[in-house]
Amino acid sequence: MSNLQSLLDSLQKLEQESAKGFDQLQSIEDLEAFRVSWLGKKGKLTATLKGMGKLTPEERPKAGQEGNRVRAGLENKINEIGESLQSQAWKTKIEADRIDVTMPGREATTRREHPVRSTAKELIEIFAQCGFQCAIGPEAEHEFFNFDALNMPPSHPARALQDTFYIKDSPDVVMRTHTSPVQIRTMLSQKPPIRIVAPGRVYRADYDATHSPMFHQIEGLLVDKDIQMGHLKGILSVMVKEFFKTELKVRLRPSFFPFTEPSAEIDIACPFCKGKDDNCKTCKGTGWIEIGGCGMVDPEVFKAVDIDPHKYSGFAFGMGIERMTMLKYGVNDLRNYYEGDQKFVAQFARWKP
Ligand code: PHE
Repeated sequence: MSNLQSLLDSLQKLEQESAKGFDQLQSIEDLEAFRVSWLGKKGKLTATLKGMGKLTPEERPKAGQEGNRVRAGLENKINEIGESLQSQAWKTKIEADRIDVTMPGREATTRREHPVRSTAKELIEIFAQCGFQCAIGPEAEHEFFNFDALNMPPSHPARALQDTFYIKDSPDVVMRTHTSPVQIRTMLSQKPPIRIVAPGRVYRADYDATHSPMFHQIEGLLVDKDIQMGHLKGILSVMVKEFFKTELKVRLRPSFFPFTEPSAEIDIACPFCKGKDDNCKTCKGTGWIEIGGCGMVDPEVFKAVDIDPHKYSGFAFGMGIERMTMLKYGVNDLRNYYEGDQKFVAQFARWKP
């Protein structure tokens, strides 16, 4: 048999053989594999057409024509099958995605505010009624506001005591360790009389059942003429009464903060046992619970913000918001707050005073 004839025979066989394969193609992937194995660079058609090298120049056009015919036929068939497989795939997908409009809807879960946020809001509202405006400041704070201006120069031991997070490559920036820097920012941007509360996140390198590396505080600052500690205690007593919806004693216990003088810890009568249970888990039988720190604004702080300490005086306080929430709702492990469990969150929203 001549080379030409044997090549034409091979092409014919190839055509018949490939036609048998069409029925087996179930998916786009099958089809692609099929295309590669017949028409690809290393495919069967290409391999067969290599035989053309042995043909005489006169024989080649005939063989070439035949090869092109077979290739075109295969391509057409492949395209045709491709289209039908594609539309099949769409149909299946549409069928699978079909929505049963008669199905009852999923009940919407009522979004509940996180107890830390609702506590912050409640406190802001209480202070707003006493004439305090809400102020905020950045969480990544310059050391000047977080420490220096608050009478904590770099050499001050209190600065070392705070477990501060520093920002890498920004030597002067820290994650604020308290909300007190907002006092400074406020006093630099507005002049007395000043009445603000500043809620927000604060950060300390600390983690156990009662400490979280991130927690919330609310800061208060009032600066005016002739302000004294009685005003401070009065405001705190109003806040406690409004927040706990019951009269709880407030005690200012002498303490120290570099930015207040005199300074005190704010204690409240234990909201659980009111001092009547020697075995109370919350107050350990002392009858008192610490909720924050406070004091009269230190003259050094006034100097740093260019307010005349002979003309003005003021008080400041800072409280833990998680603390207040725990005391109101009886949460015992701080970590509950940060786990994002909707069941945990939802139970407080239904709480009635
Ligand atoms: N910033 C203090 C703290 O975080 C609390 C405080 C605020 C004390 C304002 C006095 C006045 O511990």
